[in-house]
Amino acid sequence: MKRPDAKTRRTAPLQTPTDLGAVATKDVSAALNRLLADFFALYLKTKNFHWHVSGPHFRDYHLLLDEHGDQLYATTDPIAERVRKLGGTTLRSIGQIGRLQRVLDNDADYVTPLDMLAELREDNQRLVSSMREAHAVCDEHNDVATASLLEVWIDEAERRVWFLYEASRKAE
Ligand SMILES: [Fe+2]
Repeated sequence: MKRPDAKTRRTAPLQTPTDLGAVATKDVSAALNRLLADFFALYLKTKNFHWHVSGPHFRDYHLLLDEHGDQLYATTDPIAERVRKLGGTTLRSIGQIGRLQRVLDNDADYVTPLDMLAELREDNQRLVSSMREAHAVCDEHNDVATASLLEVWIDEAERRVWFLYEASRKAE
C-alpha cells in the first residue's frame, strides 16, 4: 500500500470531511479567501473614514460608517469558518490579506466626506460583483450552503450601497 507523502500527512488534520469533493474545496475556498481579504480591507477602509471624516455632517457619516464597519467585520468570521467547514484552510495574517485583496487602500492624508462616500459605494458595488462570481463557483459545485450565505451578504452590501448613495445625493 502506498504511504501518503509528508505534506498530506502534515495537513490531514485540517481536511474536514465533506462530500463536495476536492475540486469544490479548492475552488470555493479560493473564492472565499479572496472575498475574506476584501472584507478585511474594506472594513479597515470604512473605519479609516469613520475615524477621519469631518465637516457639517460629521455625526451622520461617522455613525453610518461605524454601522457599515460592524457589518463588514461581522461577516469575516462566517466566511473563514465556511472555508474550514469545506475542508479548506483560510487566512493567517495581515500580509496574506495584502496579497489577496482586490479592494484598494486609501492612505491619503485628507479625503472629502463626499469622496469617502463615493469611494465606499464603488468598493461595496465591486464587492457585490465579486460575491456574485463566488456564487457562480458555488453553483458549479452544488455548494448550496455557501451560496445561501452569499445571498445574504450580497443583500447587506446592496443595502450599504443604497445608504452611501442616498447619503451623498445633493439636496434637490
Ligand atoms: Fe468608533
